[in-house]
Amino acid sequence: MLPVARKPIVQYVVEELVSNGIDQILFVTGRNKTSIENHFDTDPELVRTLSATNKKDLLQEVQFDEQVANFFYTRQRMQRGLGDAILCGRNFAKEQPFVVALGDSILGINAQSKVVSHLTEVFEERHASCVIAVEEVPMDQTVHYGVVDPAEGDGDCFRVRNLVEKPKPGEAPSNLAIAGRYVFSPLIFDLIEQVQPDSRGEIQLTDAIQTLCEEGKRVIAVKLPPGERRYDIGNFPSYFETFVEFALADPIYGPQFRCFLERVAGKK
Ligand code: G1P
Repeated sequence: MLPVARKPIVQYVVEELVSNGIDQILFVTGRNKTSIENHFDTDPELVRTLSATNKKDLLQEVQFDEQVANFFYTRQRMQRGLGDAILCGRNFAKEQPFVVALGDSILGINAQSKVVSHLTEVFEERHASCVIAVEEVPMDQTVHYGVVDPAEGDGDCFRVRNLVEKPKPGEAPSNLAIAGRYVFSPLIFDLIEQVQPDSRGEIQLTDAIQTLCEEGKRVIAVKLPPGERRYDIGNFPSYFETFVEFALADPIYGPQFRCFLERVAGKK
């Protein structure tokens, strides 16, 4: 629920998914995260106030029942890692392929990103078991991400040989970091169940994807195309940068904010 410019991050993620044609969204939340459900619920008092003051643009932003998507919620009872969180969606996905979007990453400003649609196309065309969005990061940043080991491949879309979760500098197989968007076949659930917890007691999704690779299943990585960017909210420096970039892109307040920034940064 951390805000970036006008909206909480989770809302950007939902808008991105909806604009990519996803209309059934399961939130895997946890204790103390009821604010997410509340945010996407109807707030009659707020709607009344915004209508009365004729704030149509703001009204549109909070009317989630007008969106084409259905929202579902489930809780991860213990903090047992990303793999375990995905397992919470098993009854939701059933036998269908599904998209995973991590809540600490925004793709594209103002829901312009078409990465998820591209991932689902690749998933179908290549009869894949898993398709992962990846982005190039500086080598000293690999320690923050899952990193893929590309097999010999064709440009921006290639088969993955192996994956390493948060490799130390010098141990990373590439600088291609998993960028928080995936498409999975439901096969992944059985593999997550077999993953042993790591030293922190977490079930890593990356380990389950690695088993897919070892079993010879098709795991494909797709590089973010030029012009597409992932905004990582998972650490303070990139959260600050993201906030500023989104605030600058605000159609109403952006120009004024730019003047302010230049002034405080000592340019004017
Ligand atoms: C998770 C994944 C990692 C991925 C990252 C993207 O890590 O385990 O493979 O690169 O998300 O944000 P986390 O950020 O939860 O530590």
